[in-house]
Amino acid sequence: MGASKQYATWLHEAVPSDMLSYRSANSQRLGQYDTVVLICGIYATRLSLVGYIQKNWEILKRKRVILISVAGSPEDNIFSTKAYSRIPEDIRTSIRHFHLQGKVGPIGASKVKNQNLKPVLDYLASQ
Ligand SMILES: Cc1cc2nc3c(=O)[nH]c(=O)nc-3n(C[C@H](O)[C@H](O)[C@H](O)COP(=O)(O)O)c2cc1C
Repeated sequence: MGASKQYATWLHEAVPSDMLSYRSANSQRLGQYDTVVLICGIYATRLSLVGYIQKNWEILKRKRVILISVAGSPEDNIFSTKAYSRIPEDIRTSIRHFHLQGKVGPIGASKVKNQNLKPVLDYLASQ
């Protein structure tokens, strides 16, 4: 299992929610929710859901959107910041972003921990 799916599973277990692949989270489905947490990996300095977010922004902009990027690099690394900066600024200013430790196969797997989600859970609980 990839790190993004692992974090999504832990989050889903901690918070009453539906867990969907972006492929089934079409505009009709998104319309059912007040809060949407998007979790995706960074590959070649690109967030895998950047296109999905832009395509669905007309619906997402009316919701509380939390984006969790998952990557081998830490949040302040140029690869991570570059990936996030590819999201248009008007979207970035409307969403809450968290960055979590990912893994490449077994490399870094021990750093993918349930506890990494604490800032996300604290944020959700504070709203
Ligand atoms: C082909 C490939 C490209 C990657 N590119 C980046 C990158 O540009 N920056 C980075 O921080 N991590 C990069 N990574 C590491 C991934 O972000 C990491 O494996 C993350 O856990 C991916 O999410 P996933 O486990 O859900 O697939 C890359 C991994 C792969 C396999």
